[in-house]
Amino acid sequence: MEPYIPDSLPLDSIDWAAHVSLIGQANAALARYDGMLQGIVNPRLFLSPLTTQEAVLSSRIEGTQASMEEVLEYEADPREEVEPSKYADIQEIINYRRAMGQAVESLEKRPLCLNLIQELHAILLDSVRGRNKSPGQFRRIQNYIAPPGSPIERATFVPPAPDRLLQALDNWEKYLHFQEKDGLVQLAVIKAQFEIIHPFLDGNGRLGRMLVPLFLFDKKLLSSPVFYLSAYLEAHWEIYFARLRAITQKHDWNGWIQFFLTAVVEQAAVNSDRVRGMLRLYENMKSRIVEITHSQFAIQALDAIFSRPIFRGADFPTISGVPTKQTAAALVRQLIEAGILKVMQPAKGRRSAMLGFPELINLVEGRLVV
Ligand SMILES: Nc1ncnc2c1ncn2[C@@H]1O[C@H](COP(=O)(O)OP(=O)(O)O)[C@@H](O)[C@H]1O
Ligand SMILES: [Mg+2]
Repeated sequence: MEPYIPDSLPLDSIDWAAHVSLIGQANAALARYDGMLQGIVNPRLFLSPLTTQEAVLSSRIEGTQASMEEVLEYEADPREEVEPSKYADIQEIINYRRAMGQAVESLEKRPLCLNLIQELHAILLDSVRGRNKSPGQFRRIQNYIAPPGSPIERATFVPPAPDRLLQALDNWEKYLHFQEKDGLVQLAVIKAQFEIIHPFLDGNGRLGRMLVPLFLFDKKLLSSPVFYLSAYLEAHWEIYFARLRAITQKHDWNGWIQFFLTAVVEQAAVNSDRVRGMLRLYENMKSRIVEITHSQFAIQALDAIFSRPIFRGADFPTISGVPTKQTAAALVRQLIEAGILKVMQPAKGRRSAMLGFPELINLVEGRLVV
C-alpha cells in the first residue's frame, strides 16, 4: 500500500443538501446542551468527573484497560501499589486530562493551532510508555495502521509520507480558521483529516478526539469545553474506524460526516442527561447534607465530594477546606452513617479509610460500578 495523499481542504465533495436535516438536529442538540452548561456556576470544576471519564474512554479506544475508579483511587493515594501495566494506563489517562486542562487554559489566550497540538502531545506522552514516541514532535518516519506487531505489508492504512507531512498539516491548520458553512461539519472534517494525516508516532486518535471540545469552544459553539464524544465512539468503534477507512479508500467523506453528526446528536442527548442528573444530585445532596450535619461547612463538604468522589479520609480537611481535623472527621462520619459516602477500603495501620461517593460515580459511569 502506498502512503496516502490527503485530500486538500476545504473539500469540494461535501453533499450539503444530504446533511441538512442532521446538521439542524446536531446544532440544536448541542445548543440545548450548551444552554444547560451556561446555567452552571463553574462548569469545568463541576463537570470534572465527566472530563476524567472522557480521558478513560478515549484512552480505552487506544487500548488502555484502567477504569475511572482505578484512576480516582490512584489519585486518592498515589502511594498505593499498582501493577506496572495498570500504572502505565493510569498515567496515560491522567496525562490526557492534564493535556485537556492545558489546552483550555491556552485557548483562553490564543486560538487552536498546530503549536498547541504539539504541546498537548508532549503532555499526553509524558510517560514511560510515551517516552520513545517523540513526545511533542511530528514524525520523521513512515508509520502505518495495522494489527499490533504486523509489518507494513499488512497495514490497513498507510498515512502520508513524512516529506508530505508539513504540507498536509499546513493545509489542515489553515482550514481550522476557514469560515466553513457549518461548524460541526467542519469539525467532522478536521477530526478525520487529523487522524488520516497521523502526524505523530502515537496518540493521534486521542488528540483527534480531544479536538472535539477544543474546537467547539474555540469556535464559540460551546461556552465551556466540556462536550465529549468518546463514549459514542467507543461503543461504535468498528463503524468509527470503517468510516475513517472509507474516506481514504473511497474518498467517502459524506459517510463519515453523517456518522459524526449522528454521534453529536446522540451523545449530546446522553451528555445532557448526565449533566441534568449531576445537577439534580447536587441539589438533593445539598438539602440532605445540610439537614444531616447542621454544619456551616455542609456546602464545602458537598463541593469536595463532587470534585473528588474518591479520597482518603485523612485528606478531607485539605480537599474541603474545612478548618479543623475534628470538624472534618465528624462530617465524614455523618456522611458515612447517612450512606452518602461508602468505605471502599477500611483504615489500615497509618492509612485512613478510602472513601467514595457512589451515587456520583455511578451516575457518571451510567451504570452501577461502586
Ligand atoms: N483507517 C484509519 N484512518 C485514519 N485513522 C484511523 C484509521 N483507523 C483508526 N484510526 C485512528 O487512529 C487511532 C490510532 O492511532 P494512534 O496514533 O495509536 O492513536 P492513539 O494512540 O491515540 O490511539 C485510532 O484511535 C483511530 O482514531
Ligand atoms: Mg496508539
